[in-house]
Amino acid sequence: MSETSEFDRLLTQLPLWLETSRKRAAEGKVASYIPELSKMPQSALGIAVLDANGRTASAGDCGIPFTMQSISKVFTLILALMDNGEAAVFDKVGMEPTGDNFNSMLKLELVRPGIPFNPLINAGAIAVSSLIAGADSEEKSSRILSFFRKLAGNPSLELDEDVYRSEAATANLNRSMAYLLKDNGVLEGGVDEVLDVYFRHCSIKVACADIARMALVLAFDGADPLTGESLIPRRYVQIAKTFMITCGMYNASGEFAIQVGLPAKSGVSGGILTLVPGRYGIGVVGPALNRKGNSIAGVHLMETLSREFDWSMF
Ligand code: DON
Repeated sequence: MSETSEFDRLLTQLPLWLETSRKRAAEGKVASYIPELSKMPQSALGIAVLDANGRTASAGDCGIPFTMQSISKVFTLILALMDNGEAAVFDKVGMEPTGDNFNSMLKLELVRPGIPFNPLINAGAIAVSSLIAGADSEEKSSRILSFFRKLAGNPSLELDEDVYRSEAATANLNRSMAYLLKDNGVLEGGVDEVLDVYFRHCSIKVACADIARMALVLAFDGADPLTGESLIPRRYVQIAKTFMITCGMYNASGEFAIQVGLPAKSGVSGGILTLVPGRYGIGVVGPALNRKGNSIAGVHLMETLSREFDWSMF
C-alpha cells in the first residue's frame, strides 16, 4: 500500500479500531501502587500517529495528560550513553532480558557481579540515573527535562508534582533496590539523590502527541525529520531500539514482538511509545493494565494496527 493511502486509511479507520480496543479496558486494572496513578480513568484510550511530514492521525482520549513512567527509561539511557559512552554505561548495567517483573531485585543478589540485567527494568534505570552528568540531582534532573523537551519539540513539558511526591513517598521497593545496588558498587553518588533523579524523570507529564514526536526521532535514527536536526547519534538509537524489542514491554516483550513486531516501551501509567522504522512515531495511552503491567487496550490497538498494515519488522 502506498504511504498516502495507508495514512488515509489510518485517518478514517483509527477511531473505529480504537473503540473496539477500548472495550478491553474493562478487563484491566489501573496501577495503584503509586497512589496518585489510581486517579487515571479506567476506560480511557488514546493514540497519536505522527509521520515525517508532520501529519498526525489521532483518536480517542489522546489529549489526556499522563506521566511517562518507564517510557522515560529509554531516553535516560540514551542521555547516559551520550554523556558517558557505551563502555562506561555497560560496565554498570547489562544487555539481557530477565523474564522477571520490572521491579524485581531477585537477580541482583543471585547473579554475580550484581549489576542490573538491562536498563529498562527499575534496577537498571536507577543505575542509569546515577550516570547522568550533572553536579547534583537538580542539575541532572534539569538536563533530563531539557533533553526530553527537545525530543518532544515541546518546551513546556513539566513534572507532575503530585505523581512525583506520591511515588517518592511510597517507593519502598525501589529504595531497597537502590541500597542493594549501592552495596554492589553499581551506583555513583548518594542513594537518595539518585532516586530523586529517577522519580523525577518517571513523573514527566506528556500527552500522546509528545510521545509520538519522541518516537518519530527514534524512527528516523536520531534525526528529527520535522526540523532536520540531529538529536541522537544513530548508534545510541540502535541500542535503545534493540532494548525496546527485547525488554521494552517487561516480561511480555516476546509476546509483543510476535504479535506487533515493533520496538516499544510501556509505562505503568498506561502509556506506550512505539514506532514504525522510517515512517511513524506513535504514542498511546490506556491506563487499565493487563497482568504484565502493559496497557490492555493499548496493546490490543497496536496488535490491530500492525496486522492491518503489516507493520511487523520481522
Ligand atoms: O519505578 C516505578 O515503579 C515507576 N516509576 C515506573 C515503573 C514502570 O513504569 C514500569 N517499569 N518498567
